[in-house]
Amino acid sequence: MPLSWLRVEQFRCLEAVEIELDPHFNLFVGQNASGKTSLLEALFFLGRGRSFRSRKLDAIIRQGQKAFTVVGRVRTADGETVLGIRGQRDATEIRVGGRSAASAGELAAHFPPQVIDPEIHKLLEEGPGRRRRFLDWGVFHVEPGFLLAWQRYHKALRQRNAALKQGLAVGYVTAWDPELVESGELLAQQRQDYLAALAGPLAEMGQALLAAEVHLAYHRGWPEGHSLAEALQSSLERDQRYRATQSGPHRADIAVKVAGHAAKERVSRGQQKLLAAGLTLAQIRLQEEASPGRSALLLDDPAAELDSENLERLLAVVRTLPVQLIVTSLRKDIAGLPDSGRRFHVEHGTVRPA
Ligand SMILES: Nc1ncnc2c1ncn2[C@@H]1O[C@H](COP(=O)(O)OP(=O)(O)O)[C@@H](O)[C@H]1O
Ligand SMILES: [Mg+2]
Repeated sequence: MPLSWLRVEQFRCLEAVEIELDPHFNLFVGQNASGKTSLLEALFFLGRGRSFRSRKLDAIIRQGQKAFTVVGRVRTADGETVLGIRGQRDATEIRVGGRSAASAGELAAHFPPQVIDPEIHKLLEEGPGRRRRFLDWGVFHVEPGFLLAWQRYHKALRQRNAALKQGLAVGYVTAWDPELVESGELLAQQRQDYLAALAGPLAEMGQALLAAEVHLAYHRGWPEGHSLAEALQSSLERDQRYRATQSGPHRADIAVKVAGHAAKERVSRGQQKLLAAGLTLAQIRLQEEASPGRSALLLDDPAAELDSENLERLLAVVRTLPVQLIVTSLRKDIAGLPDSGRRFHVEHGTVRPA
């Protein structure tokens, strides 16, 4: 749901920011180190309960302070809901609608932000962890049973790995296999179904952004033609040697191909950025089909990252998405952005309407 109002306190260089937001388009303009990315980071935190820049709360809390807070109001069908998150050095506290919430999933149910920032190419360049997170975020929004399967699987995996690490007798290890197999097969199937559904939007984005065919190949984390039960059985010896479970959905990955070539190898950095942005936009398209009018897209300084032709292509696609768009920029005159909406000036950690 669109965010109508936001308050940020003691978050990086932002001491106290309070603004009203437009449901469709918001532009934040400011010089380097003025606090633009910090503002997007705070927005992302409000929806995801984590940062896209840092794992350490310490780095995010404004220097010399003990905690940060981000509070926002989202418009819902029957009024407004207040979301809030407070981060201390060692803990975060989440509140939704005046009540304490158990997990960040409750924030995302109201305000699910996606971000395209200068690091987006890492989705393709780095190891499979980022791609699994990307995949799981997508499945989470279209498959109601996913979170439970994911939690069951990872709980059983932790227990099994603990038994392996301690070098316990085989029975203590395989005792977790039935739970691992049941939740793991389900998880893998839900991911596969999601990727099948993503193929359409992704083809659209590939054409619009790169004028090329983009294809995803799914590796579920154990060999083709075998059940997870068989894979666990045949890798047991290896698991014991490495003291960790070697097969299963926690080893899944997606291989991205552009015009038949691995994106990692054949594609330039600029194209990688566009491609990774395309993956994110395809995900939003699918998310919007499942529950329209909910997503927010945070675009961090796109003009600094893309040449003018690619920037225009990206913005042309972005404007077809029914999202709340929030953009930062060094310059205020960027071709391809909407004319209406709200504009803000960011300076030394303060934000005011332009
Ligand atoms: N925990 C913190 N406390 C205070 N200032 C911080 C903290 N973390 C980062 N900063 C400062 O915030 C400033 C703004 O950073 P950033 O939001 O990335 O700016 P922009 O995106 O506008 O270039 C930087 O000068 C940085 O040093
Ligand atoms: Mg920045």
